Amino acid sequence: MHQENKNRETKKVNQNIKPLNTKRNEKGNLEISGVDLVELAKTYKTPLYVMDEVTLRQMAQDYKDAFSKYEKTRILFASKALMTKSIAKIFSNFGFGFDVVSMGEIYTLLSSGIGLSKVSFNGNNKSIEEIEYAIDNNIDHFSVDNFLELKLINDSAKKKNKVQKIHLRITPGIECHTHEYIKTGQIDSKFGFDLPKVDSALELILKEYKNLNLVGLHAHIGSQIFEKDVYSDEISVLLKEIKRLNDKFNINLNEINIGGGLGVTYVEEDNPYSVFDIADTVIKSIKDNCAKLNLEYPLLYIEPGRSLVCSSGFSLYTIGSIKTIEGIRKYVAIDGGMADNPRPSMYQAKYSAEIANNKKNAKKETLTIAGKFCESGDILIKDIELDEAKQGDILCVYDTGAYCYSMSSNYNRILKPAMVLINQGKVDTIIKRQTLEQLIENDVLLDRLK
Ligand SMILES: Cc1ncc(COP(=O)(O)O)c(C=O)c1O
Repeated sequence: MHQENKNRETKKVNQNIKPLNTKRNEKGNLEISGVDLVELAKTYKTPLYVMDEVTLRQMAQDYKDAFSKYEKTRILFASKALMTKSIAKIFSNFGFGFDVVSMGEIYTLLSSGIGLSKVSFNGNNKSIEEIEYAIDNNIDHFSVDNFLELKLINDSAKKKNKVQKIHLRITPGIECHTHEYIKTGQIDSKFGFDLPKVDSALELILKEYKNLNLVGLHAHIGSQIFEKDVYSDEISVLLKEIKRLNDKFNINLNEINIGGGLGVTYVEEDNPYSVFDIADTVIKSIKDNCAKLNLEYPLLYIEPGRSLVCSSGFSLYTIGSIKTIEGIRKYVAIDGGMADNPRPSMYQAKYSAEIANNKKNAKKETLTIAGKFCESGDILIKDIELDEAKQGDILCVYDTGAYCYSMSSNYNRILKPAMVLINQGKVDTIIKRQTLEQLIENDVLLDRLK
C-alpha cells in the first residue's frame, strides 16, 4: 500500500471511485455532472453505459500536463479499453494518437475522420489483410510481435513500394502484482520477442527486410498496476537494450514505447498512483538511464487505456427479482450482467455500486448483485453493502468506462446497451441501443429449411 497516496488531499481522477461531480441532489437521487441518474435511466432505459465528459477530459488533461515535462512524449490511447467514434474524436482533439490491434479499430478511427499518422498497430497475430489495410492507410508504425510478422510486414511494404516504420515488442521479464491474466511483461507470455531472440530479429531486418525501418522498442508490463518501480525497471531494460543494439549493430534506435497499465480505483482497497507520480518516475528513469548509458533522450510513447476512460464511466441497471436464501445470501438481479460487463466473471474483478434513487432512512444490507445471463458465474458484485433494495430501484455501478463495452457480447441474444455522454446537464447518445433487427441481420435462414 502506498501510504502517501492514501493521505493525499486532492485525489486525481483514477484515484477516485466516482466521477468528478457526483452528489445526491435535492430529490435524494444520485446526480453526476448535473444529470439526475434516475431521470436518465427513465429516459434512456437500462442497462445504460454512461460516460462523463468532464471527468474524461480532466483525466486526458492530467496525462498531458503530467508528461509535458518531457517534450518528447507521444500519448496513444489504447483503443481496446473503449473504442467509439465520439470517444476517439475527443482524444484525437487532445492531440493523442491511438494504439490499435485490429482492422475494426482502424476502421472506427477512419470513419471518425481520424487519420493514422499517430497510430501504432499492436497485437500478436496481425493478419495479412490487417497489415495491408494499415499500410494502405498510412499507419505511422507497427509494433512487431514476432518473426512471422516481420516477414509479412516487410512483404506487404515491398509490394506497395514503401519502407514501413516499426518498433519491436520485447518481453522485458518484469512481473507486476496484478491479476495473472493481465500480466504481459513476464517471460512466459504470448506477446513479443524474448530478449535472447532480439539479435536474430535485428540480423534479419538489417540483412533481408529492406522495407522495414526499425526505430525503437516497445514493451507493456501489465494492466491495473499499483506500483511505480516496475516502470523504472522496464525503462532500464528498454534503454539498456537500445544501447546494446545500437553499439552491436551500429544503428540508431531512439524511440521507446512503455505501454499502458496505470491502475484505477474500483473499490476502496485499490490504491493506484496518480498519473503525475507515474510521469515523474518515468521521466526520472529515462534521464538517469540516458545519463548512465550516454544515450540521447528517446522519443517516449505511452499507451494508457483503462486509466484514461475507466473512472468517467458507470453503468445503470434496473433491479428486478430478489432471492433470499435465509442465513446464506440475498441475490438481487439486474437487467444486465456478464454480457455488458464480463470482467467480474473473467477476472474476478470487483466493483463499487450505489442505489441511485432516494433511499433516505433505508437500512443497509449485504447483497449480491446477480446478472440475468444463464451462467451461475454471472455475478457482478458479491457481498456489497447497499441500501435495502427493491424491484424497480436503479443501480449505479461505478468505473465501467474501460473494458466493458469493448468486451461486451450478445450472449443469450440480449441486446447491447446504449452509451450516453453526459456533460454538465447535457446528455448525448454516442452508441445507440442495439435493435432486434440488428441482432439477426447477419443470420442466414437457408431456403431449403423454410
Ligand atoms: C500493448 C498494450 N498497450 C496498452 C494497453 C493498455 O493497458 P491499460 O488499459 O492497462 O492502460 C494494453 C492492455 O492490455 C496492451 O496490451
